Parts: sequence; C-alpha cells; structure tokens
Amino acid sequence: MKKRMQAVLAGRARSDAAPPRPTPVAEPWELGGLRFENRVVQAPLAGIANWAFRRQSRRHGAGLTVSEMIASFGIRYANRKTLGMLTIVPDEHPVSVQIFGADADAMAEAARAVEEAGADMVDVNMGCPVPKICKTGAGAALLRDPEHAAAIVEAMVRAVDIPVTVKMRRGVTPSEARPVEFARRFEQAGAAALCVHPRAAAEEYGGHADHRITAEVVAAVSVPVIASGDVHGAGDARRVIEETGCAAVAVGRAALGNPWVFGDILRGADRPRPTLAEVVDELTAFAADARLALGDQRATGYLRKFYPWYLAGYPVPAPELSALLTLPTAEAALARLREFAAAPAAA
Ligand SMILES: Cc1cc2nc3c(=O)[nH]c(=O)nc-3n(C[C@H](O)[C@H](O)[C@H](O)COP(=O)(O)O)c2cc1C
Repeated sequence: MKKRMQAVLAGRARSDAAPPRPTPVAEPWELGGLRFENRVVQAPLAGIANWAFRRQSRRHGAGLTVSEMIASFGIRYANRKTLGMLTIVPDEHPVSVQIFGADADAMAEAARAVEEAGADMVDVNMGCPVPKICKTGAGAALLRDPEHAAAIVEAMVRAVDIPVTVKMRRGVTPSEARPVEFARRFEQAGAAALCVHPRAAAEEYGGHADHRITAEVVAAVSVPVIASGDVHGAGDARRVIEETGCAAVAVGRAALGNPWVFGDILRGADRPRPTLAEVVDELTAFAADARLALGDQRATGYLRKFYPWYLAGYPVPAPELSALLTLPTAEAALARLREFAAAPAAA
C-alpha cells in the first residue's frame, strides 16, 4: 500500500502550455443500456472511493465513478463496515460498485446486494495484486483460470439486471498473461464492458501501463473497453483514446488530492494548480461529506491520507503538515489549515 501511495505523486507535473482542442473525452457513450455524459471514469480505489470521494469526482466532471473494492464475503456475513461501503447517495449517479471474491455464489449474492443498494452497474475486481487478496483466489489471482473467472461473471450476470463489468489486469505475470483470451471469455460470459489496466499483477504499479495491450483487447471484443493506467491529464487521456480506440479512460492516482484533473481532461488542457485557498475550500467540502460517510472518528484517519496529496507543491512547512496528521479530529486539522492558509505568509 505504501508503495502505491508513493507512486501517487508520480507524474503530477502539470503543463498549462497546450491550448485546449476538441477531445472525444467530452463525448457521451453507452454501456449495457446506460448512457454516460463523457468518457472520463474515476477508477476504483480501495480505502479511498467511498461515496464522498465519488461525489466529489462527479462534481468535478467524471462521467462515471467506481467504488472501492468491497468484499463479497463481508456482504454475505453482513459485516457492518462492509455494508456501510454499499451506501450510494442520490446525486452521485451513474455509479458502479466493485466487488471482490473467488466464490461464484457469494459474488452473485453480493451483486444482488449491490443492485439493491441502487448501483447502476456492478464490477468484478480481477486486478488487485495484494497478496492478502490473491491468496484467497480473488483479485488478479482469478486471471490464472479463465473458466473459473468466467463462471463468476456468468453467475453475477444471471443474478442481476444491471450491467456486470470486469476490471482486469494484463495477467498475473507478464510471461503468463493472456489478456485477449480472458477478455473474450468475459464477453462470452456476459460482461457488458471491460476495464483494462495493462500491467501484470506482479508488476504492481512499476514501469508504465503498456496500452498496446489495451488496444489488443479493444480489437478483440465488441463490448466497450475502459483503459486504466497512467492517465495523469488531458494529453494522456487523448493519447490513450486515440491509440487504443477505447470507449473511456479511467483516472486513479492522478485524482488523489487533485479532483480538478477530471475538469482538465474534459476541457482538453491541464490548468495550473488552484490556489492554496481553493485547495482548502475543496478539502473542507470533501471533509464534510467524508465525515457523513464514515463518522468523525474514521473520517479523521481517512482524511489524513489526503492532506499530503492535496498540499504537495504548496509552501506548507513540515510542522504544519505534521500537525494535520496528528491533530485528534478532522475539524481541528482543517481549522489549523484554514488558519495557516489565511495568514499573510501563505497568501
Ligand atoms: C490506492 C489505490 C487503490 C486501488 N484500489 C483498487 C480497487 O479497489 N480496485 C481496482 O480494481 N483497482 C484498484 N486500484 C487500481 C486503479 O483502479 C488503477 O487501475 C491503477 O491505479 C492504474 O491507474 P492510474 O495510473 O490512473 O492510477 C487501486 C490503485 C491505487 C493506487
């Protein structure tokens, strides 16, 4: 997880030099009978993409948001925290909820719970590389066995009326990977769309996302494909769409602490970062939703992940930053940040 977090800030360099030009990103598209107003998707992010984050992504222009991954067994056994993750708020649609697991019956039950919770789509995680998940046979480990993976998709498709989609990596390791074969199998199993992160699980987040693999999948299936990986701004989004023919691009790490990235991509040009005062306003609005979503205590820890992301590149001295990470409540942390941002030195 730590490695993933460190990778978040990679590629944050923003260029405001390129003038906007028309981009297919801002055009609508459809999937399984659903219509999306644009081709920018907020990628699923574990521990991050609760309704507060998704609502913020929508407010900044994402045409579709995807939840953090949710345990199918947690849903089966009515784990209170897991069921809380199924909360969807009225103004965040369209929203997809991602579930993970390796048992087809439990995944079908979980898909039904997702449908009942009001999600527009349900997505299967076949990309998580974390050993704790893979050793249960879930996440990217499903990419070892096409028949088992496809049986999970089939069971979910039978269980619900909403579209079922698959988020897949290239494979488990680069040498064993068979992304086109798996993609075709998922399409036959009834998947309404695929989201491809073209790194192998063994590569985690290293190197770069080779979207030639995404293009091979796009060419091999007739359902829409969402490309995920290394889309950090408008230029990346345009390039990935042009080079792969994908229906949409997903934005993950680039949106951490930078919800403005969705607007940049839609406009077709990256803008300079907002002022510190704007960042503080954004954080305040986001924190209010996070506290509603998680309760004060959990929101305090959750928001601590975000302060360094939002404040990277701003002249916030280390003692101020560490105060944000140690103050006992989110309210106290934000009050401190507001005070700092309002001081003449910060302005
Ligand atoms: C902190 C973090 C959490 C993630 N959680 C999930 C998840 O729950 N489900 C999933 O399918 N992918 C997950 N991913 C992968 C992203 O959705 C995305 O495919 C990957 O980060 C590559 O895209 P990016 O370069 O835009 O970040 C996660 C990535 C990060 C960095």
